[in-house]
Amino acid sequence: MITTDQTVRTFLDFFRDRGHRFTPGDSLVPPPGDPVLFTTSGMHPLTPYLRGRPHPLGRRLTNLQRCLRTTDLDEVGDDTHLTVFEMLGSWSLGDYDGSRSLRWGLELLRDGFGIDPGRMHVTVFGGDDEVGPDHESWDTWGELGLPVEPTTRENWWSGPTGLCGPDSEFFVWTGAGTPCGTPTTDDRWLEVWNHVMMRYVRHSDGSLEPLERPGVDTGLGLERLVRVLGHSDSVYGIDLFRPWVRTLPRLWDTLDERSVRVLSDHVRSSIVILGDGVVPSPTRRGHILRRLLRRTLTTLWRDDPTRTLSDLPVELIDHTLDHFGQSMRPDDVRTLLLNEERGFELLLRRGRKVLSRGRFGGSLTEDDYRYLHDTHGLPRELVTYLNGE
Ligand code: ALA
Repeated sequence: MITTDQTVRTFLDFFRDRGHRFTPGDSLVPPPGDPVLFTTSGMHPLTPYLRGRPHPLGRRLTNLQRCLRTTDLDEVGDDTHLTVFEMLGSWSLGDYDGSRSLRWGLELLRDGFGIDPGRMHVTVFGGDDEVGPDHESWDTWGELGLPVEPTTRENWWSGPTGLCGPDSEFFVWTGAGTPCGTPTTDDRWLEVWNHVMMRYVRHSDGSLEPLERPGVDTGLGLERLVRVLGHSDSVYGIDLFRPWVRTLPRLWDTLDERSVRVLSDHVRSSIVILGDGVVPSPTRRGHILRRLLRRTLTTLWRDDPTRTLSDLPVELIDHTLDHFGQSMRPDDVRTLLLNEERGFELLLRRGRKVLSRGRFGGSLTEDDYRYLHDTHGLPRELVTYLNGE
């Protein structure tokens, strides 16, 4: 079975042979001055270059970038969603066009990774009130013979910095038996690779300005691709997650499968965030990390409040830091995890005491929530959790 490392090598070699230079991925934390809290896509560190600044390595680039998305947190634990994941990317900074990118995409998936085109489907931007259909991509698919589904919203990509454009996505069939339906009608079609035709900048007044030098930005979900190549049921079946899904049920033996997945994802993601220098706090990045850790702990304690993150073998922390090339000491990460666990335990204890007062017995008003937050430091979501809603 192809490993994650081999998958990365195959991708990078393919694009190197086609004139792309590798730019090392950055931390999850963008550089100072960047308004974005976390990197959510491989293109983020390349934003200025997609907008026209010349890149020192030229106009064809690749990278492997760790990304964090919290918009899909409730879906984490299903077969496909992860909080921290890795994205393989390729870029044309005003060099080749989108059609070239799609052709290479098919070549790599089919010949490089051996995916049968009979298990592939693609989507294209079919046009909306503002921008016409992406004929260039549509015609390319017509020539290449893959089944195409046009959509509107799903095939318009816009990032946090205004860059945007129509995109075309590769899906691979993950069901048993013959593929059926389309990506929007059957979720056994798994999106693996997005090719964005970066043609515009959206300004704050809503207007769309064409880029002088359009580019192509692609992002391939690494864990999803490895899952597809290994015919695993979920992203948790790939080599990167094996130590997690094997170890956690041994530590905490009554966990159901979904909780094993959620804990594997959340603890691993928290380690990566800590490894990039973020510490839990009430605001900004630290707050996102704190929320993730609190979700971890409420899942962990759901059917056994005596469980603790101190049960985690330090090797799991080490494995994660090592995979992401992070230099923080595993023991220091562990200390931060345990401090946060202790703080949350105390907060819950205090919350239970306050809520047991008769005044908070029935349903709570907005004033109650405000009082609980301002006077006792109990956020609304915690009160809801303690009340078992
Ligand atoms: N930037 C594009 C994405 O995140 C490739 O899907």
